[in-house]
Amino acid sequence: MASPVLVTGGTGRLGKLVVARLQDSGCDVRVLARHDRPTPQGVTFFTADLRTGQGIEPAVTTAAAIVHCATSTRGDAEATRNLVAAASRTGSAHLVYVSIVGIDHIASWGYPKTKLQAEQIVASSGLPWTILRVTQFFDYCLTNAQKLSRFPVAPVPAGFTVQPVDPRDVAGRLVELALGEPAGRAPDMAGPQVSSWADLLRGYLKASRRRRWVLPVRLPGTRAVRNGALLPPPGHTIGSRTWDQFLTTQMRQQGRHNRLAPPAGGHHRRPHHPPSPPTSRQTAKGAPHAIQARMKNPGVVIPDAMTAIRALNAAIKQGGVPSRTLDLVHLRASQINGCIVCVGAAARAKKDGESDERLFTLVAWRDTPYFTDAERAALALTEAVTRLSDRTDPVPDEIWNEAARHYDEPALAALVLWIAVVNVFNRVNVTTRQVPSEYPGQV
Ligand SMILES: NC(=O)c1ccc[n+]([C@@H]2O[C@H](COP(=O)([O-])OP(=O)(O)OC[C@H]3O[C@@H](n4cnc5c(N)ncnc54)[C@H](OP(=O)(O)O)[C@@H]3O)[C@@H](O)[C@H]2O)c1
Repeated sequence: MASPVLVTGGTGRLGKLVVARLQDSGCDVRVLARHDRPTPQGVTFFTADLRTGQGIEPAVTTAAAIVHCATSTRGDAEATRNLVAAASRTGSAHLVYVSIVGIDHIASWGYPKTKLQAEQIVASSGLPWTILRVTQFFDYCLTNAQKLSRFPVAPVPAGFTVQPVDPRDVAGRLVELALGEPAGRAPDMAGPQVSSWADLLRGYLKASRRRRWVLPVRLPGTRAVRNGALLPPPGHTIGSRTWDQFLTTQMRQQGRHNRLAPPAGGHHRRPHHPPSPPTSRQTAKGAPHAIQARMKNPGVVIPDAMTAIRALNAAIKQGGVPSRTLDLVHLRASQINGCIVCVGAAARAKKDGESDERLFTLVAWRDTPYFTDAERAALALTEAVTRLSDRTDPVPDEIWNEAARHYDEPALAALVLWIAVVNVFNRVNVTTRQVPSEYPGQV
């Protein structure tokens, strides 16, 4: 294809793979995203924000096809509308959109709802179009499996049947579609095997040689998914790689990465090897997590420090953020930091009336309907502030503005201070290996 092909979101998980496949097919490739990240040689990068509409036109002008992979937790419908408007003004590119198998069955809220709206915008755009619905990516399943297995008990949604797919297979199919004639709704695409979420998690635990208790938890309001709403209809396209093959490659890459990494100075909180034989300090069951503190809590060693922290906690309460939100923030940051002392916040929150659904699914809060918009804003802020070093723009305007939409200035001040204080607790506890006063049941 002589004219360029644009990949929106070409720096994302799927977008990167589509870019590589297009280059392999000899295409002139453009990428559009908000943040300028390294792209392969020969790719032309356009900084644009699909949601605001800023900067789109130069990227779509003269494009023969647009593979629309950009996505965000919010605003995909708006983004797609802006993309369609710019593409219609500047030409008639073949618009290829990637969506999710079965979203019409789960589109009553949140992300699936906007994906369905985006599909409708593409189909009524007047541009030549193709929509490919695909199932969950292996990478997405892996990320969730890693999150779920951070603690001794790994809760999984009971009865969720899925047929995840390798995003490389999806990228290949999207390129085939983009370079072909517009197909309207193409046959859905899925991986080669149907599995339960519990089985996916067990596969991951086996591949990563971890031992966890897999606990299926029945989530209310998910009957459609339990009845197979996320499975593709007959006649779908099937990807080639299985979950086990994917995991084998991932674990090999991870092993190589760990070998290349400089020796860690501290203790390994997430070992990738089987536990070593029990030592005298470990339990008869051999549980390697029977940890012993390295020293007394620094706040006890320097009592004035504890007094100052207590005063700070009391001041934070004046900000007017609901205590349930503060508990969620405490738990989420502590999950990320792997602080076993602070994840005890879950037990306190439960005593305060929190539901099991909210506590079990907090690690994957974006994909659940259990949290209010204000809580979601606080959680997004928590994750950004806790993972400062993970991104070039650690706390983007999008996250900050959403928090500011729900919390006034004193509440925002309290939230920011609280997230920072929780991170202090986590870092102190993890570094000195503090032990919870009531250690949760060992597995
Ligand atoms: N992940 C799955 O399991 C799965 C399953 C089925 C279908 N899908 C679909 O596959 C597509 C790609 O998903 P993914 O997981 O690869 O996404 P991803 O890794 O989160 O990447 C999202 C991309 O979109 C860009 N982006 C976000 N907001 C933007 C905006 N306002 N303007 C311009 N660019 C923007 C991001 O770059 P910047 O942040 O720099 O802008 C990034 O390049 C989505 O449509 C998703 O619904 C995913």
